[in-house]
Amino acid sequence: MTRESKSSAIDVFLEETRVFGPPEAFRQVANVRDENVYARARANPEAFWAEFASELEWVKKWDRVLEWNPPNAKWFVNGQINVSSNCVDRWAKTEARNRAAIIWEGEQGEERTLTYWDLYREVNRFASVLKKLGVCKGDRVAIYLPMIPEAAVAMLACARIGAIHSVVFGGFSAESLKSRIEDAQAKLLITADGGYRRGEVIPLKHDADYAVAHTPSIEHVIVVKRIGMPQRMKKGRDLWWHDLMREADARVEPEPMDSEDPLFILYTSGTTGKPKGIVHSTGGYLTGVYATTKWVFDLKPGDVYWCTADVGWITGHSYVVYGPLANGATILMYEGAPDWPERDRFWRLIEKYGVTIFYTAPTAIRAFMKWGIEWPKRCNLSSLRLLGSVGEPINPEAWMWYHTHIGGGKCPIVDTWWQTETGMILITPLPGLTKTKPGSVTKPFPGIEACLLNERGEQVERGGGYLAITKPWPAMLRGIYGDPERFQIQYWSMWKNIYFPGDGAKLDGDGDFWMLGRVDDVLNVAGHRIGTMEVESALVDHAMVAESAVVSRPHEIKGEALVAFVTLKEGNKSSESLARQLKDHVTQKIGAIARPDDIIFSVELPKTRSGKIMRRLLKDIAQGKVLGDTTTLADPEVVSRLKQQYEGKGE
Ligand code: WT7
Repeated sequence: MTRESKSSAIDVFLEETRVFGPPEAFRQVANVRDENVYARARANPEAFWAEFASELEWVKKWDRVLEWNPPNAKWFVNGQINVSSNCVDRWAKTEARNRAAIIWEGEQGEERTLTYWDLYREVNRFASVLKKLGVCKGDRVAIYLPMIPEAAVAMLACARIGAIHSVVFGGFSAESLKSRIEDAQAKLLITADGGYRRGEVIPLKHDADYAVAHTPSIEHVIVVKRIGMPQRMKKGRDLWWHDLMREADARVEPEPMDSEDPLFILYTSGTTGKPKGIVHSTGGYLTGVYATTKWVFDLKPGDVYWCTADVGWITGHSYVVYGPLANGATILMYEGAPDWPERDRFWRLIEKYGVTIFYTAPTAIRAFMKWGIEWPKRCNLSSLRLLGSVGEPINPEAWMWYHTHIGGGKCPIVDTWWQTETGMILITPLPGLTKTKPGSVTKPFPGIEACLLNERGEQVERGGGYLAITKPWPAMLRGIYGDPERFQIQYWSMWKNIYFPGDGAKLDGDGDFWMLGRVDDVLNVAGHRIGTMEVESALVDHAMVAESAVVSRPHEIKGEALVAFVTLKEGNKSSESLARQLKDHVTQKIGAIARPDDIIFSVELPKTRSGKIMRRLLKDIAQGKVLGDTTTLADPEVVSRLKQQYEGKGE
């Protein structure tokens, strides 16, 4: 069902008609039940955001809500606030002090629970450690830790004294750590002797030593003892966390920060290009993540909330640490892999801790689909009441699988669209209000203005186009660290004063958004521009397929031909006849135009360390090119194997 819009930025083919309204029992007690929130926010967005900001504790109230000099925004101008006192002191001072803030489980099965009071104590003490080592307001601190409570403590302690943290995912290499420390000119590094992943030790300190040997800006390295292996500690430079904490002061006054002071830098490389240091602010950022956590995840005091993201990603910053703690929530934090020691580890954790809200990524959901339903089936998942998805478009069949086998058919799913740059969720259902559709991110959060445009900036009312965010929002990035020019070119040069996220999307007749994938990945066949998502979802719709990535290669007649890389659910065998079946399936679902020319079966697809499919590399393979940069891949072996396989195909 092609619908040619005058823009034709991206054509759309796939139609999904299933609709799931909020379950009545959920709706009745939801944090947001009133449809009018959308109209109210639209009528006066500044008043809308100010209302959320007023629910936080400010040292000094702002003079003006917003100052907008595109592309530079200031939110809560001249306000003063401290993020750690809002996330910690605020609850430690009340009857919530004994509530669990962080329930942690290590991969080996160790358990730790920190109440809000415990967290208060730890954050204060570590803030005093930082101060004694000469870390001042505005200094950059690099954090390279596994998923252990110390990661949250370190972030909050930085926020307390006004130091800017730069968390580097523990799975990144020494080289990546080095370049990030260099770019931010970090003064101090916090790491651990190691972390566990699938039973193996990740030698963080060893990698940190390599990085720090090349980064003279680092004065000290603080090392958390996680593994207990002997370490080479460089005298005068390396210090043990536990030694320092013994001498720490019990209380450090939270630094009154200007609303616009930077809270952190987080490097993002996305699926292409050199990492950019995305800078986030203090007052606007906290307001944005506080508001969205409260409304999107419908948080209540009794909830056990689990977001599976690592603190090394923006999801870990906004929806493991800052958003949930600003709401006084109880969060579950798990150190390790979902398939360790067995493929039911996540479901065991949900059962064990009575998790009520579960937020994960499509890449994980597709892995669970591949492994089969016997794993979740073994566990009691009835405590769950809300599910979330983030990171990539979720294929309708993966959505249905999540809804049925994890949510037991009774949990709303919030498919949340946002980016490292946006800081907070921008397009999402509100679980007590929105009619959800498998694969749709539905509507912009109240107060957010988004639409689809073509290259000329003309609006696409229905069909495919480029996603555009037309008004500033509180948690928006304040820039790329040290590179204002790249900030302008990357995000603000497509149209005038409008933010360009780089994603394609479509709008259906109800005004609901459907993400189609990155604009760079769009396929071009016989003059039609097709989002990767649609062809991939048609493939995943087949009962034997768990995951797929579609790219194009040049074709003499059509311009481009489609190459589909396909991962089967376990227990299914690849064959010539299955390949033909899959091509037919796509033809039947969306039309001959999108029929893949080649199907390549693969046990794994190349992914970034945060789990996004790297279509750029698959494209190199399909086009017979020398492989591009593979340094950000989770498992570089996967592409070289695929390359051999594709070239051996001898077509
Ligand atoms: C890109 C941002 C946002 C935190 C995790 C990723 C894709 C993200 C969705 C979604 C479709 C999504 C977009 C976006 N993306 N969420 N719900 N549906 N696509 O942060 O690494 O900065 O990536 O992830 O392409 O631009 P990130």
